[in-house]
Amino acid sequence: VVRASGIGRVVATRCDTLPLGHYVYGLPGWQRYGVVRDDPLNTDLGPEVDPPALLSVYGATGLTAYVGIVDVGRVTDGETVVVSAAAGATGSLAAQIAKLHGARVIGITGREDKARWLLDELGLDGAIDHRRDDVRAKLRELCPDRVDVYFDNVGGPILDAVLDRLAMHARVVLCGSIAIYNETRRPPGPANYFQLINRRARMEGFLSLDHWDRFGEISARLGEWMAEGKLRYRTEVYEGLESAVDALNALFTGANTGKTVIRV
Ligand SMILES: NC(=O)c1ccc[n+]([C@@H]2O[C@H](COP(=O)([O-])OP(=O)(O)OC[C@H]3O[C@@H](n4cnc5c(N)ncnc54)[C@H](OP(=O)(O)O)[C@@H]3O)[C@@H](O)[C@H]2O)c1
Repeated sequence: VVRASGIGRVVATRCDTLPLGHYVYGLPGWQRYGVVRDDPLNTDLGPEVDPPALLSVYGATGLTAYVGIVDVGRVTDGETVVVSAAAGATGSLAAQIAKLHGARVIGITGREDKARWLLDELGLDGAIDHRRDDVRAKLRELCPDRVDVYFDNVGGPILDAVLDRLAMHARVVLCGSIAIYNETRRPPGPANYFQLINRRARMEGFLSLDHWDRFGEISARLGEWMAEGKLRYRTEVYEGLESAVDALNALFTGANTGKTVIRV
């Protein structure tokens, strides 16, 4: 079964803590029915939830964005933050959480309408189109004080370009590396890693799975921002398990804006 986080409804149970009719958040994968156990990776959501909204903002997506920006990136007021795949599920939340911490945020994306969404609706301070713009030139223009935190979803040449623009004591948050997931040969390393030394910078990877015990705490924080109208999200829903491959491919072609959800 292809692994994926998701929400399912309990249709049969032998477990008191996961009662019939309740929704459960966990890692059900690409399947219509699955066995869920009472363990830390599965969270009872009760009988009334809006699964697409929940998957878009809370769960693994919100947890990843929050831990990356707050714990690993340690973003503070007035810093310059760059986020790649900024119009995607994780990036769009990471960028907004950085804004909520008082940062100047520049988003990198691959389509004009997504760049407009970042600027007009999410309130970012700048956008770079990695398909049309000269990314290095744009980083110089939009980050005159250099980059304090880079939330990296893509790796590859964009990571290299940002490494060349780091500020002193910058933090490079390694969330994902989608630009190299389909490489059939070993990809080249970041040629500019020496800038970490020049800039006394730190580069750190993290996995949201290691922070699952903070699901409740971080969901509550995100929920407060949602209630105050400070977080926005988009969801693209694909219908049926047979659409799962198209949904996955959309992440690689950049066809998606916001969170991609498959309803099975
Ligand atoms: N560390 C963790 O615990 C954790 C947890 C969840 C996800 N992740 C990682 O976070 C990243 C984002 O995941 P997501 O689920 O939120 O997906 P997503 O951002 O909603 O979708 C992926 C986006 O990546 C961009 N992209 C694809 N190929 C690219 C390339 N070669 N160069 C630049 N941009 C490219 C596309 O947007 P554009 O149109 O902007 O190019 C696409 O929309 C992935 O790398 C994923 O593996 C990590």
